[in-house]
Amino acid sequence: MCGIVGYVGSDTKAKDVVMNGLRRLEYRGYDSAGITLYNARFRIFDTYKDIGRVEHLAQISKLAMPSTIGMGHTRWATHGAVTKNNAHPHSSQSGRFIAVHNGVIENSDELKKQYLSDIYFSSDTDTEVIIQMIEKLSIQMSVENAISTTLKLLEGSYALLIIDTHNPETIYAGKNKSPLVLGSSKDGHIIASDIMALSDYCDSFVALKDETFTVVHDNRAHFFDLNHQLIEPEYLKIDNDFYQAEKGEFEHYMLKEIYEQPSVIRRIISRYLLDEKDEIDEHIAQQIELSNRLYILAAGTSMHAGYIGKFLFEKYAHKPAEVHIASEFAYGQPWISDKPFYIFISQSGETADLRACLTKIRKTDAKVLTITNVKTSTLAREADFSVDLLAGPEIAVASTKAYVAQIAILAILADKIGAGLDIKASLNRVALVMDKLLKEQKISEIVKEKLVKRNCFYIGRECDYYTSLEAALKLKEISYIQAEGFAAGELKHGTIALIEKNTPVIALIGNRELSAHTRSNLKEVIARGAQPIVIAMRNASLSSDDIIVEDVHEALTSMIMVVPTQLIAYYAALDRDLDIDKPRNLAKSVTVE
Ligand code: G6P
Repeated sequence: MCGIVGYVGSDTKAKDVVMNGLRRLEYRGYDSAGITLYNARFRIFDTYKDIGRVEHLAQISKLAMPSTIGMGHTRWATHGAVTKNNAHPHSSQSGRFIAVHNGVIENSDELKKQYLSDIYFSSDTDTEVIIQMIEKLSIQMSVENAISTTLKLLEGSYALLIIDTHNPETIYAGKNKSPLVLGSSKDGHIIASDIMALSDYCDSFVALKDETFTVVHDNRAHFFDLNHQLIEPEYLKIDNDFYQAEKGEFEHYMLKEIYEQPSVIRRIISRYLLDEKDEIDEHIAQQIELSNRLYILAAGTSMHAGYIGKFLFEKYAHKPAEVHIASEFAYGQPWISDKPFYIFISQSGETADLRACLTKIRKTDAKVLTITNVKTSTLAREADFSVDLLAGPEIAVASTKAYVAQIAILAILADKIGAGLDIKASLNRVALVMDKLLKEQKISEIVKEKLVKRNCFYIGRECDYYTSLEAALKLKEISYIQAEGFAAGELKHGTIALIEKNTPVIALIGNRELSAHTRSNLKEVIARGAQPIVIAMRNASLSSDDIIVEDVHEALTSMIMVVPTQLIAYYAALDRDLDIDKPRNLAKSVTVE
């Protein structure tokens, strides 16, 4: 998946708009980047592209002329290796059409064989197939018809911007499954993968619908379905404050976002738990009550929050809940109860694996709630209900504050159906304890001294086990240390064979009742040479433990236990001098399946 952005208008600011947009979309991929800008003097489009980050693109394009139309792309490779040739924009054979694309065209090989065997291709990308098709069809029909006919032939996902160099004041944009929004300002239009790329310039936007396209020309945007019938757009207001995010005094966004967690919890309390205004739709709790089983679907970090949700719903609200990996649920055949209620958890609200789940669920009558940090996202709009995480923009690819917010929302929902968590006071306490922990933490020293190997294990029981999964993922994502999270009692059934002298084993002990068991498991690995690190809640701690965290409500310990593990990942990556906010091979919003 990738990020795309285009500007067409009366101001000569296309380059600034596109470059700023690409900087803000870089979370979507950063293998390579490219831009094309209209050079009015010579009546040509100047294209710059290369492997590397957006800052490198800024360097190689710095002499580009001011322009009123342009578009750019930041890539996370799917079709074709990371090479300059495969970087976008791509052109058709004659150079007439230029395109940038986010998505995967599943039938690109078939289309190439069937229609384009006589065409020379200069890249390995599926995008080039689209643009060559459009060029070929435009010989027999209007450009708009060539575009809609091509889009109809495509199977898969696309957010696509197209420029016809014969008509260089127009941008055509098509959308299916991959996100695409159009923002309008007084001097022009911006079309991009995410509102983030528009928010500095526009006050309102339209989220394009699947299997539609738009033609932007002369400061007007017209929207069509693929049969070329006009459709009425719905303009929504942009919450510009939400999209402002600067690093401030912090060296990295990730550290800033870890430190923002107490204020995120307080924001959630003030919006959802003050008596006079509870902004969570009351029908959500009714639907949960009515269902006889909850199905929590998510990916990555959000799935780990889902496990904590399962723990909260089952242990405290006595509501059966299952957690499924979204990409497995979408095409697998799990048994579904006769009264299911689905809870999607997605920081971005765009994860393609979840959209595939939605397509499957929509064939039934079941209702879906999306818990997301982007209230205008596709999954928020397409679900029956949505709850906003209120975490503010999360820029670092590794998710931290959104994860903690996800647990807070799940706890509030469990409380609404009778979990008895004294939720307002309990969340307030979590925020307070988190503040203290963040002020006094000495985790960088522990990491330097004890996290010296290429591998590491986290162990814990019950919800500490779920936290250990998230802790291990975070460490892998940004420090590239091979890490696994284990149920503490399970390590001895095989994986203990990997323990060698000084292998770090980090025990999470948030649960007093189970602490003796976890400590026994720790002894088993210490006896085999492991380097133990213990993170414990005060009421389950020993004075020799490495990190002791003040007590919170037993149901919410995971919100606080995860914080030292986020910091362990952060300092491990810092020690190794890695690119913490943009780890290799990852992207924050995964809009391909
Ligand atoms: C990507 C990110 C992960 C994230 C996952 C789910 O793989 O790298 O950090 O947890 O997607 O994303 P979502 O936006 O659905 O929470």
